[in-house]
Amino acid sequence: TWGKAVANNSIEKFHMDFDRAIDKVQNELGKKYPAVINGKEIYSDDCFEVRSPSNTGILVAEFPRISADDAKNAISSAKKSFEKWSDFSYQKRAEIFRHCADIFSKQKFFLASLMIFENGKNRLESMGDIDETIDFMRFYALQLEKNHGFCKPTVHPNPHEKTQTVMKPYGVWGIIAPFNFPSAIAIGMTTGALITGNTAVLKPASDAPLSSFQFVKILYSTIPDGAINFVTGFGEIIGKTIIESPDVDGIAFTGSYQVGMKGFQEFTKSTPKPFISEMGGKNPVIVTKHADLDKASDGVMNAAFGFGGQKCSACSRVYVQNDVADQFILKLVEKTKKLVIGMPWEKDVFLGPIINNDAKIKFENAINIARKDGEILTGGSVLTSLGLENGYFVEPTIVTKLPEEHTLVKEELFLPFLCIQKYDDFEDAIKLANQTEYGLTAGIFSNDDRQLEEFFAKIQAGVVYANRYASATTAALVSSQPFVGWKHSGSTGKGAGGENYLQQFMHSQTQTRCD
Ligand code: NAD
Ligand code: ALA
Repeated sequence: TWGKAVANNSIEKFHMDFDRAIDKVQNELGKKYPAVINGKEIYSDDCFEVRSPSNTGILVAEFPRISADDAKNAISSAKKSFEKWSDFSYQKRAEIFRHCADIFSKQKFFLASLMIFENGKNRLESMGDIDETIDFMRFYALQLEKNHGFCKPTVHPNPHEKTQTVMKPYGVWGIIAPFNFPSAIAIGMTTGALITGNTAVLKPASDAPLSSFQFVKILYSTIPDGAINFVTGFGEIIGKTIIESPDVDGIAFTGSYQVGMKGFQEFTKSTPKPFISEMGGKNPVIVTKHADLDKASDGVMNAAFGFGGQKCSACSRVYVQNDVADQFILKLVEKTKKLVIGMPWEKDVFLGPIINNDAKIKFENAINIARKDGEILTGGSVLTSLGLENGYFVEPTIVTKLPEEHTLVKEELFLPFLCIQKYDDFEDAIKLANQTEYGLTAGIFSNDDRQLEEFFAKIQAGVVYANRYASATTAALVSSQPFVGWKHSGSTGKGAGGENYLQQFMHSQTQTRCD
């Protein structure tokens, strides 16, 4: 996506367009926004504030803290609207989402700039998020058309029995989204539910509801009242209400394993209903003695510290072969020290803030433990220097010499915090890489084809890369690289942005007409 953002615009023009959009967005900040229920915008005096993680003095937006009863109303309106919306032809639904994608495409610099203020992504990362959103909408529209709305004749040996399989929407879907891809993931999941004829109740992350509101704003007046609802508030109230509702027929959840697993158990405790979960990762990279260390260190650095390690796909563990470990570490540490940290709206900034105060506290705790149990090779501090003191800025941190079973090596932190472990035998490296509850992404750097084959054969993760020099384990492209988690990283095994994704939002009906 980065490549695309830059290829479509010369770097200079890219930044000029961004400069203009960032100026424009400054005038948009601090406004009050509504929830959307049953086709109506609901404003409230009881709001929560979204403050920029770069500078908490910047009020980005205020959204209503809606009640559990409001969320129940949203679910009822989605239920009422189902018949009307699912009656739209699949061609019409595809057209609506393509139109949405076109609008997003025209406004992409503006939308990316909003996100920079909202969650602290830098220019390239926020544009990547918007590009991915557009790709999701167009790809799912194409899939719907290519599969003729998922209606397929089947063959019966008796010529008097005419048979077909028709995939039909379930009804109401709850969409529960994370803060880190506030556009692509929230809108990708919602598009999946709606384009297949379901209605939806979207709960964005409280840290970043503004990006997905941009989509709801375009959509809600175009489709029947209640087909899309936007419910803002805290996860423990609104998310929980959605999960506990008997009127919700399916859930698409992206977020942490802890929240997702609890939701999955609650949602399916008495009825076998679909719960699509995309969850965390503790993603390894193996660097072998046959690797190009210059390129491997580039890839690892981008994957570990891009958006402050706050990507489910981020690399958080490196297993490096002992013979090349010192050399690799030297290169990686040198490069990491040179990363430009600052306000993410500035042109050359690589690393902006982490998302909030809880994340900062988690970082401080992890550092204290790492100091005690391992060795910090670089980083380790919260940054409070002039200009950064009002945001949540931390140093990209590399730690080594932690015992393999250590919690910092095993648990997802979702921070710019990378553990480096050393190994002797390649077989051990794969075993160590697999010794995690998670199975999302993984990478290897090696110029030995046999090692690459063994890696692909044995690694337990859904999205795996060899010699991805730009980004090691991150930046999957819609349609080419369906994004899917194994083990604790996901429940369905069907990748977002892949050919099997939409079918999850439908159940099939086998129809037989006899002469
Ligand atoms: P989170 O689990 O804290 O929150 C996710 C969503 O759940 C938010 O909207 C939140 O408000 C809601 N929520 C919180 N408590 C709830 C409850 N009790 N009931 C229902 N909903 C509740 O995750 P986050 O911090 O927003 O995002 C980071 C996590 O998401 C990381 O673990 C990351 O790996 C994961 N993630 C996974 C993928 C993937 O595709 N596998 C993609 C992005 C992020
Ligand atoms: N889809 C995102 C990536 O691949 C999370 O990095």
